[in-house]
Parts: sequence; C-alpha cells; structure tokens
Amino acid sequence: MRHWWEDAVFYQIYPRSFADSNGDGIGDLAGIRARLGYLEALGIDAIWISPFFKSPMKDFGYDVSDYRDVDPMFGTLGDLKDLLAEARRRRLRVVLDLVANHSSDEHPWFLEARSSTSAAKHGWYLWVPDTGGPPNNWKAIFELGTAWHPNPATGERYLGTFTRHQPEFDWRNLELRGAFYDIMRYWFDLGVDGFRLDVATAYVKDAKLRSNPFSFKANPDFFQRHIYDRNQGEVHGIFKEMRAVADQAGERVLIGETHGQDTALAASCHGRAGDELNMAFNFEFLYRPWGARSFRESAERWYAALPEGAWPNFTLSNHDQPRHFWRYRGRGPTETEARARVAAAMLLTIRGTPFLYYGEEIGMTCRRLPRSALRDPLGLATWPLRALGRDPERTPMQWDGGPNAGFSSASGRPWLPLNPDYVSRNVAEQEADPGSLLSWYKALISLRRSSPALREGAISFFDLHPDVLAYERSADGAKSVIVLLNFAPKRKRIVLEKGAKVLLGSGRAAGVELPPEPIVLGPSEAIVAEVF
Ligand code: NOJ
Ligand code: CA
Repeated sequence: MRHWWEDAVFYQIYPRSFADSNGDGIGDLAGIRARLGYLEALGIDAIWISPFFKSPMKDFGYDVSDYRDVDPMFGTLGDLKDLLAEARRRRLRVVLDLVANHSSDEHPWFLEARSSTSAAKHGWYLWVPDTGGPPNNWKAIFELGTAWHPNPATGERYLGTFTRHQPEFDWRNLELRGAFYDIMRYWFDLGVDGFRLDVATAYVKDAKLRSNPFSFKANPDFFQRHIYDRNQGEVHGIFKEMRAVADQAGERVLIGETHGQDTALAASCHGRAGDELNMAFNFEFLYRPWGARSFRESAERWYAALPEGAWPNFTLSNHDQPRHFWRYRGRGPTETEARARVAAAMLLTIRGTPFLYYGEEIGMTCRRLPRSALRDPLGLATWPLRALGRDPERTPMQWDGGPNAGFSSASGRPWLPLNPDYVSRNVAEQEADPGSLLSWYKALISLRRSSPALREGAISFFDLHPDVLAYERSADGAKSVIVLLNFAPKRKRIVLEKGAKVLLGSGRAAGVELPPEPIVLGPSEAIVAEVF
C-alpha cells in the first residue's frame, strides 16, 4: 500500500521567519495560516513547521519548556487549531517538530530534576558526579565547550551537547518514554499528521560514557566521530515504540533527523522490517559539491543503503545549513539562476519524497550578516567564521517589494534583517512572471503530481556525458519520463537512445521533440521529457 507521504512534496516552514501577522517582527501561526493559499497554489502537499512550542528561545524553539502549548510569541493553541482546520480545508497536511532529545533548562521537569538527586524526575535526565571536570570529551557543539554543565544543587553535572540550556533526557528511563508517547498522542488527537523528530539518533548515549575518537571533519561533526554521545543501537527499540504510537493514530508520518552524513545509519532507522521511522532524513545533498557525478553517486548510495520497502527522500536546504541557491552559486547571476533550475528539477523528479525549505522556490540566498544582527547561538560562538552560523538561512520570507517585504507590517522590525535583494526577488514579482524560478517550481510540482512515473516510478540512471545527470522514471501502465540535467556551464552534445517529447524545459518549450540522434544541451539546461 502506498502512503500519502511517499507521494507528497513537503515544505519546511521556519515559523519565526515566514509571516508576521501582528507586526512584532516575528513570524507566527496566524501568519502561516494567512499564507496557506500561497502554499496550496505552489502545489505542495504537506508542511513541516519547526518548533513553535513554549520556549525561552535560547535555540529559537529547539529548547522547549512546554511540549503541549504554543509560545505566546507564535500565538495560541487556538491559532494552531485554526491553522490545522484551514490546512485541512486546503488538503495540506501538517507535521510538527518533536524535540525529544532534550528540553529547555526552564522546563518544569528539569527544574524539578535539578533540585535534588531524590526528586521524582531526576532520573529523566543524564547526570554524573561533579568531580571538578567533565567525565569525557563530549562537546556542547553550539558553545564549543564541554557538554557537561555543573549543577551545584546536587553536586553533579548534566549533559547538554548543544547548549547548556538544552539538558538531555535519559531515554533508558521508561517513565520519560511514556511522557513523550503521551505528548505524541496529544498532538495526534488534535489532528496533526506526523512529526519530524529532532536529532533522533541522539536519544541514547553510551552507557559507559566513553570519549569520542577524533575526526578530521569539521562540519557537521566538530572534529569528533560521534560513536558514543549519539548513534547507539538501542535507539531502534525506541523508534519501534514511537512507530507503534503513530500507527495506532492512523496514517501518521515519523521523519527522523538521523543526524550527520552517515548514510548507512540513516537508512537503518527505517528498520529492517519497516517497523521504525517512516522516513529518515537523507542529508547527503546538503554537503555535496555541484556536479552530475556527485549527485548521482550520492543518490545511488542512498538507494542501495535503504532496506527493502523503505521509501527515499531528498533535501537540498534546511534551517541548519547555508541555502543551496547560495551554496551552488555560479560565476555570475545567469549561471546561478540556471543552476537553481537544475537543482529544483533534480529534487522534484528524482525517486523519493522531496523536502523544500521556505523561500528556495524564489531563490532566497544567504549573505554575511553584521555581528550585531546575529541571533543564532552557534553563529555567535563561532563568529567571525562564516560557515557555521545559521542566521543567514533564516532571514524573513520575501513576499513582495514593499516595506519589510510583506513579511511584517511597515512599522515592524524583523527579528533578522531582510536580505536587501527582496526588492526584486520576491513572491509577488515571480508570481507575475511565467519565466521565474517560482513558476519553474510550480510547473515541476504540478508535473510530478500528474505523473505516476515521477511520483512512484522506478529510476534508472544512464550515461550520456560526465557532466549530464540523466535518468528515466518508469511505472507500470504510465508513460516513462526522462530527465536530462546539464551541470556544466557549457553546451554538451548528447545522443538519446529513444525519442522523447519535452514536458518541461528550462531552455526549450513543452512539446518540442528530442529525436534519438545527437542534440546539444545548453549551458546548465534542464529538461523533463516523455518517452515516445
Ligand atoms: C537539530 C535542529 O535542526 C537544530 O536547529 C537544533 O539547533 C538542534 N537539533 C538542537 O535541537
Ligand atoms: Ca508576530
């Protein structure tokens, strides 16, 4: 049986930055609701909203102090219910972000836990006796210091591998597990369609607390091989339990952030029997250099690693990595624009569920922000290193060329500065232009919707030229589709084995025939065509 998330195009919303309904400069739930018409017209099927729960915002919502309520900054529970109802009317699914590896240090559970070693919830978190130093080399990666933070009240240290404000749970504790499964049921009962699970492979840590070995990789591993502070086999038992909770609620999806670049580890999170996470994020494309071979190799590796029956997924951008429009910029604006079309065509026609990140459909980019504008704890800790701060990929959505880009009211002060390119790069401009990147995304998404081959078909890559990524998608009883993506800024001569007719092309019109004889692809040209 096919599941809805296998056919869906997902769209990630970073709620602070999407749409501000009350002019305080911070995006909110009512703002998202007001923009659902835009998302429906874009053609996506599901939104994943990064955390909007009560939070002191030390990591902008990835530090939750109440898992069952909305932070006033984002609105109320009533606003969420309205958003869910409106999404349902528009046939859009809604996935929330469950941050279950750690809470905020202001969560009442932690306040109780840290008060005394005999407190009822003490055992919900991870502690070591404070002997004046940390027990191992685990790092708080957003502070660049030790992950073991002193708690004078009990003479212990607690674990926080992000910031000290994100104390980590002991998932070996069965009461804690039960508390999270209840939280999941609570949101399912409200009609939520699933969860994205924050750092899901970090839930369980080495029982002996051994130090991680050294790694040469800075990003995203911070020079350690994380074999002890995350990635323990025991986590699979938890995934099975979570899956049982989700399945009991009906067709709900669990999408794990299974951290880092370990393809085999991510693939294993689906479970050998298909009884763990419905999808584990495949982050490979976030770190891949531009190139036909580079992406083909990555995709083939992912397909080969997935257990039988598991469904693939792909992501080019998210709220933790520089936007791909910027990562894959060419030598000039023309090449950059053309590459964005190639990337979108790949993401939306390759076999697997695509995840879009808000603004990628209009080519939002990253730029260096002055130190005074930085908000991300990682960005502040690593300033002036450019690569690591996450504010540049979180700037407000660019709706129009008016004041504050239509993100906030004219008098509002957006929490992060807008990218000044909003004056010409925005939704309103691109909606009016059939040749825009936004129109390209819409056309690709709609093509994908109408084509069983693109949605669910098998994929076979073929060799035409080292710089051209070429594959065929085919499904029983449906016309096959071929995709030709020239990753080079130069013309490339190729010879097709079968004739085809263009469905969508960045350089040629729909309906144009591609005969089974030599043709020349333009620089960075993308073609989706139907096989005769
Ligand atoms: C992964 C999230 O994507 C990131 O934004 C967050 O800072 C960490 N997990 C900690 O929750
Ligand atoms: Ca607001």
